[in-house]
Amino acid sequence: MKAKLIDGKSIAELIKKEIATEVASMIDQGLEAPHLAAILVGNDPASETYVAAKERACRRVGMTATTYRMPVRTSEKELLSTIEFLNNDPDIDGFIVQLPLPAHIDTNNVIEHIAPEKDVDGFHPRNIGRMLLGLPAYLPATPAGIMELLERSDIEVQGTHCVIIGRSNIVGTPLSILLSRKTENANATVTLCHSHTTNLAELTRQADILIVAIGQPEFLKADMIKPNAVIIDVGIHRIPDAKSEKGYRITGDAAFKEVAAKASAITPVPGGVGPMTIASLLKNTLLAAQHKVYKP
Ligand code: GUN
Repeated sequence: MKAKLIDGKSIAELIKKEIATEVASMIDQGLEAPHLAAILVGNDPASETYVAAKERACRRVGMTATTYRMPVRTSEKELLSTIEFLNNDPDIDGFIVQLPLPAHIDTNNVIEHIAPEKDVDGFHPRNIGRMLLGLPAYLPATPAGIMELLERSDIEVQGTHCVIIGRSNIVGTPLSILLSRKTENANATVTLCHSHTTNLAELTRQADILIVAIGQPEFLKADMIKPNAVIIDVGIHRIPDAKSEKGYRITGDAAFKEVAAKASAITPVPGGVGPMTIASLLKNTLLAAQHKVYKP
């Protein structure tokens, strides 16, 4: 393998240590520990795993975590009343509604009901709008984690051509905004590719930094990248594998072996972007508890 591994796991550990120090100092000053809540509707196994990981990470940095579990048949109205309750609960600094929601619930309507000052996922239109304008905002966790990963790995972003595959509201679209902002460690030229992009490989082969967030296992192949490109892999998939002891293996959106042989740096899956997402959520929760984005 030629590429340097971008070690998201170690960088996230470092960030969590920094957060733990801040939390300890808040407690020393007689303040409450930051409190993050999560609402989990239904029992999608991936969502269960994410929410459990978020809870564990909170506790490890000294924060309080509460999960509100609601059955899959929960009506939109019932979910909105839980949101209303958390919006008004002074003990809760921030909360998230784990996505995806069951199909009978209107996700956009739900997100609009979260109080922007408690929206630590950064999904509310007010936070997205503030991010777009460069105003203080909670930044969506995965894009913010990727920006921090690039910065802490000393990967120069300014002046580069970044190509993103996938335009989701959670990753691709907000990341295109962060990478192209007029700020230090951004100032990139961004191409946002999606299902209607023609000549995709022609565009990806022009990328200095290529971010793949398409949700398809091993979609990105070596012939789609420029030699020495930096590859950020946002995907995570469980693939049945009879040769593995567990019966499955974890893979990303990139065909790791062949891509790593041609790239200059690459994020592994697991241990790349995933841990950074959680670290960013903790960071937003700390900002919420310290009223650093919205003043009381
Ligand atoms: N589902 C997948 N990623 C996320 C995330 O960052 N936040 C929430 N709430 N749901 C998700």
